[in-house]
Amino acid sequence: MVKTKIIFILFLVFLLESLGSAYDDDKNILEEIYFSEFDDFDDVYNEDEDEIFDVWRNNGRGNKNLVNVDTCGAAGDGTTDDTKAFEDAWKQACSTRRSVFMVPSGRTYLINATKFDGPCANGLTIQVDGTIVAPSDPEDWDPKSPKAWLVFSNLTAVTFQGNGIIDGSGSKWWAASCKKNKSNACKSAPRALTIDSSSRIRVKGLTFQNSQQMHFVISRSDSVRVNGVKVSSPGDSPNTDGIHISESTNVVLQDCKIGTGDDCISIVNASSNIKMKSIYCGPGHGISIGSLGKDDSIGIVNRVVLDTAFIKGTSNGLRIKTWQGGSGYVRTVRFQNVQMDDVSNPIIIDQFYCDSQKPCQNQTSAVEISQVLYRNVTGTSKSQKAMKFACSDTVPCRDITLDNVNLVARDGTAEVYCNSATGVIAGYVHPEAECLNSNDKKIEEYDVHNEL
Ligand SMILES: *[C@@H]1O[C@H](CO)[C@@H](O)[C@H](O)[C@H]1NC(C)=O
Ligand SMILES: *[C@@H]1O[C@H](CO)[C@@H](O)[C@H](O)[C@H]1NC(C)=O
Ligand SMILES: *[C@@H]1O[C@H](CO)[C@@H](O)[C@H](O)[C@H]1NC(C)=O
Ligand SMILES: *[C@@H]1O[C@H](CO)[C@@H](O)[C@H](O)[C@H]1NC(C)=O
Ligand SMILES: *[C@@H]1O[C@H](CO)[C@@H](O)[C@H](O)[C@H]1NC(C)=O
Ligand SMILES: *[C@@H]1O[C@H](CO)[C@@H](O)[C@H](O)[C@H]1NC(C)=O
Repeated sequence: MVKTKIIFILFLVFLLESLGSAYDDDKNILEEIYFSEFDDFDDVYNEDEDEIFDVWRNNGRGNKNLVNVDTCGAAGDGTTDDTKAFEDAWKQACSTRRSVFMVPSGRTYLINATKFDGPCANGLTIQVDGTIVAPSDPEDWDPKSPKAWLVFSNLTAVTFQGNGIIDGSGSKWWAASCKKNKSNACKSAPRALTIDSSSRIRVKGLTFQNSQQMHFVISRSDSVRVNGVKVSSPGDSPNTDGIHISESTNVVLQDCKIGTGDDCISIVNASSNIKMKSIYCGPGHGISIGSLGKDDSIGIVNRVVLDTAFIKGTSNGLRIKTWQGGSGYVRTVRFQNVQMDDVSNPIIIDQFYCDSQKPCQNQTSAVEISQVLYRNVTGTSKSQKAMKFACSDTVPCRDITLDNVNLVARDGTAEVYCNSATGVIAGYVHPEAECLNSNDKKIEEYDVHNEL
């Protein structure tokens, strides 16, 4: 009897040792995955920076073709319909090399839903220093294109900049939302500004506010760099995502301050190489990958980094959300140097996401989630579930790494919830996330065996 016990203990020691080295291997592999792939991330954008700045600086020296919307007949009083003047100005600016499409400061332009199509002649800058407002009454909108307000498409190497404001005048849309009042029909509402099917785009310093739904959408685009953008809408405005990235690659968001009623940033299907740096978020629903996999669709998001963020008073912090029944994957995600203050779900993976009026059924298919790193994440949780890994029973979450995570609950003791999630823990992690550790599970099984 004693003999078998000793043998068992020896076996246990051996097991723990081999697990220890397996853990080191795991960690090395993970380091490689998370970090090597991103080393050259910034290079994509630096090439034409000087050129773009020069283009603008030269403007005063007569080197540029200035197209002022006022010269094209805009009234700029906030009540006259200036759509036609903007369309005319666009035609001129787009067709002439080295143009500046100019929306001057101190004035307000009322603009209907409008498409600004490229391709344009080289060297176009869109300078917004004034305010652009949307008609406030949903009845003024063409029901045939409900999702569009200002849509820029098919542009290459274009800069959007200025201290201006893009104002969606969304309050009537919000009141008509089914999220505000269940007796309203669920309908889509316009997105304030969309950059679609474009590449090598820079956006600097614009402010978005009170959008009807999403504020700023980057779709089907490559190489987009966004700096110093602000988003501001009430915390209870429905579906008003700050910056929404869809089907886009090589996108950098930097120094953005976002407060709104839905996700501060949302990254959805067919997006990869997305880097976010120095982001302030709150109020809002946090920084999200997803939702993905709705209506049994394929969802793929790959290579996302968030580095340095302050998230305050939001319902979620760092979130990955997928609908049941979907397929595809979310892979290689790094969240690091994040400070949270009073966030309801600071770290959350939710594979049971269900944003519909009907409850969603459990299904076996799911968007697969793996290689997600949380490093140096600290702060306070409004709920006790500081970390939640709610993963599909049939498609578990794998390689979740927690490396120096410290979250305390505002009231009571912080906890971790896991369903079908495995990973590794490094450094100081609080609350303890033992439930992630698949290796522990195996040891428990041996313990149970021993009792018998
Ligand atoms: C802008 O929308 C209003 C309201 O639907 C409409 O009367 C007006 O003609 C539109 N302007 C243009 C230039 O289409
Ligand atoms: C972009 O412009 C090119 C050249 O005019 C055109 O062939 C293409 O259809 C446009 N694409 C979109 C998405 O508008
Ligand atoms: C919701 O909408 C219905 C029908 O328009 C209206 O009677 C009701 O007062 C609204 N409820 C709230 C809370 O606004
Ligand atoms: C997601 O993107 C993939 C291509 O990467 C495409 O096949 C799929 O249809 C897209 N899913 C949705 C919901 O659009
Ligand atoms: C951890 O993140 C915070 C920002 O949230 C940053 O100030 C701090 O320097 C980071 N610590 C390390 C060791 O990188
Ligand atoms: C779906 O599965 C999850 C995880 O196993 C479980 O917690 C939840 O109760 C299930 N929901 C339904 C409606 O069966």
